Amino acid sequence: MNKNVLVIGSGGREHAIVYQLSRSAQVEHIYCAPGNAGIAQLAECVAIKDTEVAQLISFAQTHKIDLCVVGPEAALAAGVADAFREAGIPVFGHSKAATQIEASKEFAKELMAKYNVPTAAYRSFADYEEAMQYVRSRNTYPTVLKYDGLAAGKGVVIAQDEPEAEQALRDMLVGEAFGKGRVVIEDYLEGPEFSFMAFVHHHKVYPMPLSQDHKRVFDGDKGPNTGGMGAYTPLPFISKEEEEWAQEHILQAVADAMVKEGKPLTGVLYGGLMKTKDGIKVIEFNARFGDPETEVVLPLMESDAYTVFHAIATGEELESIKWRNQATVGVVMASCGYPGAYQKGIEITGTEDFDGLILHMGTAVKDGRLVTNGGRVLMCIAHGTDVRQAQEKVYRELEKIHCSNLFYRKDIAHWAL
Ligand code: AMP
Ligand code: GLY
Repeated sequence: MNKNVLVIGSGGREHAIVYQLSRSAQVEHIYCAPGNAGIAQLAECVAIKDTEVAQLISFAQTHKIDLCVVGPEAALAAGVADAFREAGIPVFGHSKAATQIEASKEFAKELMAKYNVPTAAYRSFADYEEAMQYVRSRNTYPTVLKYDGLAAGKGVVIAQDEPEAEQALRDMLVGEAFGKGRVVIEDYLEGPEFSFMAFVHHHKVYPMPLSQDHKRVFDGDKGPNTGGMGAYTPLPFISKEEEEWAQEHILQAVADAMVKEGKPLTGVLYGGLMKTKDGIKVIEFNARFGDPETEVVLPLMESDAYTVFHAIATGEELESIKWRNQATVGVVMASCGYPGAYQKGIEITGTEDFDGLILHMGTAVKDGRLVTNGGRVLMCIAHGTDVRQAQEKVYRELEKIHCSNLFYRKDIAHWAL
């Protein structure tokens, strides 16, 4: 009881974490650094950026924080979790070394090769000429080119022909756009993609319900990639056997491998997986909760969130995590123009009439009114006994929200129906 929690981050994912912690009887006070307008309804927002390590530690010490939960990968990659652990404050989030599973594509690929985790065959290069020579010698398209580092989701190019591959490799290895680095070139895989997240403390792996993101901006999966336009759970196209197989051969295998490599996980392992004709394979790993998948998955957690996050942070005994057996569909309302340029500061009304859960991704309050403050603005969520019912409800309720500069996809969860 009377626990103080600090959540680090400012998006819909952190709103979901704060929302879930706010339902725990053990939690007295939640702080969020830096938070957003939606989070501010449940937590006290603190004006510290997610990578300002020294300020975060000093805040936690003066406010007697019992548990810190780190959301964004940038904060993990900046060593926020290491600093909390050194200061003796329980922290949910991987060390900087373990965050390599997301931050370095090459590290992740080498780990999977070493421990027989299924993924696309690959080679990695630092030199543009050598990379181009390899692409020419393979002469197979599409071919997948991945910049080796955190590139905010922009580091992957699926080249359809040689000129496209050449341009992408120039950008990644010769130009200034990414900084000097390496490129992983891998085989192109086909099949439906889905997200499998788990809470992990060292060898212990607790799976979350499967979910699916919608990365393209327009209906029918058209247009450029985004951070995700909506998500839903559960997935009808993955059987229980396939799920168990992926848990054992992918998530558990990687958790064990990371311990062996001296980089144990203490947070979320996110598998971006694909069901190919040759079985389930890994497209990527993230070292954090997925966004917007977390917004549909986490509200289904029945177990006490403080107990779960604290046990993952410290390794204390946790029997299992219980989940409500319900379908959830979440639709992102994004600013017109996103993922390109967009305006901010446009008023949003009607959110209080929405029957369901609204998690804020990019909002602010200006003169007492809720306004847009990002590309992805709101994640609107409804539950149902099945995906269709949840989908019908969320789209019905969305009509109550008004803003002259927001749009949303009309077909979230279409893969399930
Ligand atoms: P990543 O950042 O690695 O998740 O890649 C972004 C997106 O590119 C993925 O969600 C896939 O849609 C696509 N992609 C990545 N790797 C491959 C691959 N080997 N084959 C096919 N598509 C891929
Ligand atoms: N929804 C994809 C991600 O969080 O990376």
